[in-house]
Amino acid sequence: MEKVTTESVVKAYRRYARYYDLVFGAIFHPGRRTAIEHLHMRPGQRILEVGVGTGLSLSMYPSTVRVVGIDLSAEMLEKAREQARDLPQVEALLEMDAQKMTFEDNSFDKVVAMYVATVVPDVSEFYREVKRVCKPGGEIIILNHFQNKNQVIRRAEHFIQPLARYLGFHPDFPMEEFIARTGFEVTTAVPVNLLDYWTVLVGINDK
Ligand SMILES: C[S@@+](CC[C@H](N)C(=O)[O-])C[C@H]1O[C@@H](n2cnc3c(N)ncnc32)[C@H](O)[C@@H]1O
Repeated sequence: MEKVTTESVVKAYRRYARYYDLVFGAIFHPGRRTAIEHLHMRPGQRILEVGVGTGLSLSMYPSTVRVVGIDLSAEMLEKAREQARDLPQVEALLEMDAQKMTFEDNSFDKVVAMYVATVVPDVSEFYREVKRVCKPGGEIIILNHFQNKNQVIRRAEHFIQPLARYLGFHPDFPMEEFIARTGFEVTTAVPVNLLDYWTVLVGINDK
């Protein structure tokens, strides 16, 4: 199996940045909306969005919170900065690896990662960092596609797995493996988007 590396992700998203919004904008929007609703934000709270990409979600946060977005890709962040120009809720958009964040422990009230968990090279390191920077008791929301339960679709996903390095993600990553490798405790799981093919996982930081 081709391994997803930090370099392959940076390279893939350098290519995708130009047409990302066109291809993955509207079609992924219902999931983004549901994920952000489940943050149950209160005025003054500080939210971290990991893998903010081109910033398609930024206008969905209320102007009463502060949002920090991080991403590995400078090209995706450049687009996000354009999106954020008139959004007072956006505190910062930073080039940073989710597996080695430079934030202090407990820096954020809540953390959300949308369409990122199966793109990061090491999901255990990613989640360890998410827990570290999130305050105890804060919501952690993971929106992702996990391996399909349908046998036919599953076979197709397995077939394209060797392209993972090129695509920059693992198309056949099972949710059970994600949970086993991270220890994520799911309190709610909401199927979203076309054919309910993606899932919003809600958890509470129990550290
Ligand atoms: C599929 S895109 C999702 C973008 C955005 N969240 C959205 O809703 O459209 C995945 C994003 O995760 C970023 N990413 C992947 N691995 C990362 C890492 N280790 N640290 C930070 N960002 C990462 C990629 O650069 C890319 O912008």
